[in-house]
Parts: sequence; C-alpha cells; structure tokens
Amino acid sequence: MTETQFLPDSYTQQPEQGSVSWKSPSNIALIKYWGKYGEQLPQNASVSFTLSNCFTETKLSYASKDSKGYDFEVYLDGQREPGFEPKILQFFERVENYLAFLQNYSFRIETSNSFPHSSGIASSASGMSALALCLMDMERSMSGAEMTDDFFNHKASFLARLGSGSACRSIEGPLVVWGEHPVIDGSSNLFGIKYPLDVHENFNNYQDTILLVDKGEKQVSSTIGHGLMQDHPYAERRFATANSNLSKLRLVFGNGDMDAFIEIVESEALQLHAMMMTSLPYFILMKPNTLEIINRIWQYRKQTGSKICFTLDAGANVHVLYPEAEMTDVSSFIQSNLAQFCKNGSYINDHAGLGASRL
Ligand code: DP6
Repeated sequence: MTETQFLPDSYTQQPEQGSVSWKSPSNIALIKYWGKYGEQLPQNASVSFTLSNCFTETKLSYASKDSKGYDFEVYLDGQREPGFEPKILQFFERVENYLAFLQNYSFRIETSNSFPHSSGIASSASGMSALALCLMDMERSMSGAEMTDDFFNHKASFLARLGSGSACRSIEGPLVVWGEHPVIDGSSNLFGIKYPLDVHENFNNYQDTILLVDKGEKQVSSTIGHGLMQDHPYAERRFATANSNLSKLRLVFGNGDMDAFIEIVESEALQLHAMMMTSLPYFILMKPNTLEIINRIWQYRKQTGSKICFTLDAGANVHVLYPEAEMTDVSSFIQSNLAQFCKNGSYINDHAGLGASRL
C-alpha cells in the first residue's frame, strides 16, 4: 500500500460554512515507537492500548474564502493559543496533498482536554487525532463517492500520523498496531490498524492508572528524542528487539500468559528510557519518584502474586497496568502506597477504550 490511495478524489460539493466535532482519546504504547525516518514513518512496529478517560474534544468550524493560503486560529479551553499554531501549520503543510480543500477555508479550531494541560500527559496523540478526524469528516461530506468506515479510519489515522506519530494509534481501539510487521496482517507504516487477531479475556477492559509524578514541561521533546535515534549506537538492535517483542506479544494476546505480558511490557518501557540515557546528548526523564514507584510495584507483585505492571512514556509519569479483576485491590494499593509519590497525590484512573467518536 502506498500514500497514493489517500490522494483525494475531486469534491462534488464544498459547503460555504459549518462545523464538526470529534472526541479522541490518548493511547499508551506497550511496544514503543522511538525512532522514525522519512515523513513520520516508524523504525519499528508498535502496539498500544487506546485509552478512554484521557481525551481531547475538538470543534472545527469552517467558512469558505477566496484567497489562497492557510487561515486558522487555535483555542484551548476558550482562550486563543498562538503557541499551538506552528505545529498545526506544519501539520497542514504535511497533509495538504491529501486534503485538497485546506486552503479554501478559514478554520477555527476549538479544543479542550479532559486532563490538565500541565499533567505531563501528552496531548499530541489525542489532539492531532481529533483534528485529523474533523478534517476527514469534512472531506467525507464533500466527496460524492461512498466512503467505507475502514477507509475513513485508515485515512484519519494516516493524517493523524503526519501530525504526531503516536496519534495514528488513537482512532480505534482497544488495541492498535502501527508499523509493518510480518505476523500482523494488514499492518502498515502509513497508519494504525485495529489489532486484527483474537485477544484473550485477561486483557478485556485492561486498567491503566496514570500516576502524575512530574507535571512539568518535558525537558526534551519526543520529536528531538526520535531524532537522536539516528546515529544511535544501539538503534538497529533496538528496532529489531521491538519487532521481536511484538511477535512475542502476539502469542501472549492469544494465550493470556500474564507473566510473559509483564516481562515484555516492562522491558519495553525500560528500553525506551535506556535509549534516552545512551543518546548523544543523553538525557533522563525519570525522576526519583518514578523509580520509587517501580520498586514498590515490583515488591507488591512479589508479595501478592498480582499481575500489576508498569509502563512509561517519554516522561516521569508511571502508567500502572492491571487486569480488571484486580481493580479493587490495586486501587487501594495505589492509594495507600503510590499516591504519596505523585505531585499533589494526583493520578488518573483510565482503562482501554474503543477509540474516537463523533460528537
Ligand atoms: C515514547 O508520537 O509524540 O510515547 O511523532 O515526533 O510526534 P512525534 O512523536 P510522538 O512519540 C511518542 C513516543 C512514545 C512511545 C509511543 O507512544 O509509542
């Protein structure tokens, strides 16, 4: 499959004005995307749980105009946010070929997140996917031809990827694979697909409690971090390991082997941070409390036989993952043992969800 499948047909109608709204969730990777090439293409395949309670809602209002050029304004929680506009401009430039109407409209993008902006939870996955879905929705209403749901979702994911790589995994759920992989039929570097195989009931409604360890701005952005994987001494080995971990995880999703799941997921999180620590320049995003939490999770698992585990994204926060059956026990463990290591004791209870929805 190539990009050309997403080039637009001619539009049969172009409305004068209107608006469209979408709600799109964040996601948490189990196999990590870290390293890219070309235009937002991943160096290895990744897989994530789509989340549910952490989401962005975006309303895209549009009015047709005669002049050429991009014209848009971005609002966060009702306030104009010029700081977001360079990233949106870059996104518009990247998707221009695939959405031929972009320069024909003035846009007002109104967005809000369910999680606090300063929580350290990246809003790029939910934000870029919500915007991509609004634009796709506009395109669908303009094109005369029938558009299948699969095409709609894949092109929305393809567009979201051009805004932020991990955003392409937020359209569907509860598990999404992004990146070509020999054991996942239909997988593509261009867009995320819903995990196509049967998944053991152990993973139904999987829980993710996000411990907000550090709410500060990231010291090193993901985009810079990805860049440091070029010329990284361990890059090739890392990409190969991620792909082989996905092969192993495929078996685990089938047989429900929780110990194997824990080993793969925690190893992926630590490898991600090991790549950061061995980049040049090197950097550390974990905080002392991140390590304290990890040690306490290990201790709790050893003492109780729980199937709790952790993963990390590009920051200090810890995602605590556990089966739904353990919800009561793990909730009290988090409250009594882990909350003290969070900024202001704050954390967010989330769980795997089914993806984005139109509002
Ligand atoms: C550590 O998708 O934020 O969360 O493509 O440059 O926007 P860009 O990067 P981004 O990287 C996310 C990296 C990660 C791992 C993951 O989600 O797979």
